[in-house]
Amino acid sequence: MTERTFSILKPDATERNLTGKINAVIEDAGLRIVAQRRIRMTEAQAKTFYEVHKDRPFYGELVGQMTSAPVVVQVLEGENAVAKYREIMGATNPEQAAEGTIRKLFAKNVGENSVHGSDSQDNAKLEIAQFFTEDQIVG
Ligand code: CMP
Repeated sequence: MTERTFSILKPDATERNLTGKINAVIEDAGLRIVAQRRIRMTEAQAKTFYEVHKDRPFYGELVGQMTSAPVVVQVLEGENAVAKYREIMGATNPEQAAEGTIRKLFAKNVGENSVHGSDSQDNAKLEIAQFFTEDQIVG
């Protein structure tokens, strides 16, 4: 089934000029980038986005990291886009990520892990709506 997922190319990736290289992995996997914008995430946006992690010990570090440099927010579309993107991102901790995955190729550590992808279709809808209006998504 064709579906959408939400992606963020994180500060550690934009700082190292990896936007194009990561987008190439995404497109080579058959996912279509149907919306994309480079933004400086505000503290309020980062706090809301990661609210599910607010009680975790790394929450402050995570919010600080996500607001430290520009990010690229994206909507990806394709067959089973949520699961497919998680597969090509690799494990959250790059030390556990499979060969050829984005995190294995590019991530620095578990905090600076280059990309975010939605973990479910419901969350994908919520996350997309936080950054894009429907008319900004061109499928
Ligand atoms: P992401 O997919 O964006 O969702 C939550 C983020 O929290 C995760 O990627 C990591 O960047 C970060 N994270 C998860 N576990 C840790 C950890 N143990 N230490 C620091 N950051 C973490």
